[in-house]
Amino acid sequence: MLSFAELRAKDTLTVCAVESSCDETACAVLRNGEVLSSVISTQIAIHKEYGGVVPEIASRNHVLNVETVVKSALEKAGVRASEVAAYAVTYGAGLLGALLVGVSYVKGLAFALDKPLVKVNHIRGHIAANYLADPSLVPPYIGLIVSGGHTAVVRVDDYTSFTYLGGTMDDAVGEAFDKVARVLSLPYPGGPEIEKLAREGEDTVFIPAPKTGKYDFSFSGIKTSVINYVHTAEQRGEPIRRADVACSFQTAVTAMLTKAAVTAAKENRLKDIALAGGVGANGALRATLTEACAKNGLKAHFPTKEMCTDNAAMIAMEAYLQLRYGDESCLASDSLDAKASIPLCERG
Ligand code: KG4
Ligand code: ZN
Repeated sequence: MLSFAELRAKDTLTVCAVESSCDETACAVLRNGEVLSSVISTQIAIHKEYGGVVPEIASRNHVLNVETVVKSALEKAGVRASEVAAYAVTYGAGLLGALLVGVSYVKGLAFALDKPLVKVNHIRGHIAANYLADPSLVPPYIGLIVSGGHTAVVRVDDYTSFTYLGGTMDDAVGEAFDKVARVLSLPYPGGPEIEKLAREGEDTVFIPAPKTGKYDFSFSGIKTSVINYVHTAEQRGEPIRRADVACSFQTAVTAMLTKAAVTAAKENRLKDIALAGGVGANGALRATLTEACAKNGLKAHFPTKEMCTDNAAMIAMEAYLQLRYGDESCLASDSLDAKASIPLCERG
């Protein structure tokens, strides 16, 4: 097997990564940061029936899908498994059983082929998705992480190190979208449904802005205010203005996220803000952030909408960055295990 130094010195680095942290089984092949293939098998239709992801069902479906997805990604890339320079896998954070499927499979593959294995922090992967869409983005910049499990403002100091500036004190923003959607009887996943419904509504329902630190967020009070609005309307026999609730909720949340990111950019004297995570697919958030950046002489960056939600191209990109700019600690040992929760900035 190549040493870390030999690997880094290679002119051509072909990385094959697997992602299985939630309800998408995904595999991608990248060559020097360029996507050769990206295959995503989503289980959304299966979990929709239950109104959210059922961890045990997710794990079982990953087991059923993983081999087909990996073979398909290699085939589409026109790369043989033995030609891959390094394999990579998401080891956390996420659903433990789901992560274990990807980790076990890729560990076996890398071991059998005598290839190095890079362990990837899922949230770092979401940030790396920006480089796939926008090679003009160069650290340092502010990262606004908005996923189903995390919400944070970070300073991306260089390709492999972050500084945490603030984050949610309770629910993640994606979780808030999903919970509010449930209250409005919308199907899972709630984010895209809220976005769709909000287009038909107006920002006329009062949503209180919680008092937090300048880079911190709290979404549970917002969710409660939506529940209260719906209950009160029901008790009074009044119609529930679902589209207005969706629009007001989305407007309040995008304003809070944007304000924190812009403040962070100004205080850190940085010019760029990059969105990362599933909620980054939200058109209203993208528009609000773009507008606020333009007003303040800043620039907003986004992954493509498809690359905002879970995929393996972003995991392969993060692994590539670790190999090119990081150190040996990104490589997994034989004892690599999946972790349900890991610090945002952890590399291994
Ligand atoms: O990043 P992600 O795919 O998974 C995690 O790493 O957690 O994020 C999933 C979250 C879900 O909560 C989903 O409702 C939300 O992203 N989401 C959206 C949109 N698309 C996905 N939220 C708002 N608007 C969207 N268009
Ligand atoms: Zn994710």
